[in-house]
Amino acid sequence: MNIVVKKTEHPKAKPEGKLGFGQIYTDHMFVMDYSAEKGWYDPRIVPYAPIELDPATMVFHYGQAVFEGLKAYMTEDGKVRLFRPEKNFARLNVSNDRLSIPPIDENLCLEALKQLVELEKDWIPKQEGASLYIRPFIIATDVSLGVRPSDTYKFFIICSPSGLYYEEGLEPVKIYVEDKYVRAVRGGMGFTKAAGNYAVSIKAQVIAHEKGYSQVLWLDGVEQKYIEEVGAMNIFFKINGEVVTPMLNGSILGGITRMSVIELLKKWGVPVSERRISIEEIYEAYKNGQFEECFGTGTAAIISPVGELRWQDNVMKINNGKIGELTQKLYDTITGIQTGKLEDELGWVVKVD
Ligand code: PLP
Ligand code: COI
Repeated sequence: MNIVVKKTEHPKAKPEGKLGFGQIYTDHMFVMDYSAEKGWYDPRIVPYAPIELDPATMVFHYGQAVFEGLKAYMTEDGKVRLFRPEKNFARLNVSNDRLSIPPIDENLCLEALKQLVELEKDWIPKQEGASLYIRPFIIATDVSLGVRPSDTYKFFIICSPSGLYYEEGLEPVKIYVEDKYVRAVRGGMGFTKAAGNYAVSIKAQVIAHEKGYSQVLWLDGVEQKYIEEVGAMNIFFKINGEVVTPMLNGSILGGITRMSVIELLKKWGVPVSERRISIEEIYEAYKNGQFEECFGTGTAAIISPVGELRWQDNVMKINNGKIGELTQKLYDTITGIQTGKLEDELGWVVKVD
């Protein structure tokens, strides 16, 4: 399928100074439509603009909406690079399947992404820690109030020059272990990047913010005993020399940064296990002085050190609130590969130009 490109006649001024996360959008976006008769059709890059939808459009009512998040980086010698983008489109199809949304052609979407990013390359920020955050997403567009899968959809890719996700930067964040609300249960859609997973998480996040915490650490939806993940990150613990992260059990997202960290740790010979781990086990390790490091992983957050975990009335200060040695090494390695400062020995980087 040929991707038609219509360039803007009104390019916007590029941002200057501090960027924040996901506040500014570039000049163009990718759009493609789906109908039951035609399949996905009319892939096109067009000027970024608002869209008009009927108030009875299904996505507003029953939430058939899925998304992805990835980043484009500018290397020091001015080359544009993506980090494992094929994994994002593969995961989008996992989300599509669960939400009864028709699958996308992953190769076509990757090609569309490369063309869009190439066109928007002057928007890629060059400051340390900044990048072009890319948000592919799909919405159901039938105009109908009946509960059923939509017969029509729209797929978009928008881009946003962004800084680090947390205001703290690489300063360790404080995380609140949520023991009242739950995010997902097995059999639900916790393993997908469905918009609804974020809607359900906001209330607990607001409460945690009011208490001075950046994010919530979710426990399992049945016993509220086992660790799941953080609002926008997977979570890792270094306990007595071993790195542990919750296994993919159907209710947490299979993060691409998580996968990359596990692959790196194995390559380095650091013991790492994906298993069920309870909050009690972590608190015990803390009391015994064996809880050495804690960090979150995610596209937006990269590697984010956790300096404090609060579970009920127990406050665990990790590594004296400082970034751990292994956490720092993972941050340096992942960002080094992403920005071309380190050699891409594992073949993770996709060249755009
Ligand atoms: N878990 C949730 C709920 C997320 O939103 C994210 C961010 O995408 C992650 C984990 C980390 O996934 P990834 O490393 O693929 O960005
Ligand atoms: C990402 O890391 O790409 C995410 O999607 C997190 C987010 C919801 C801001």
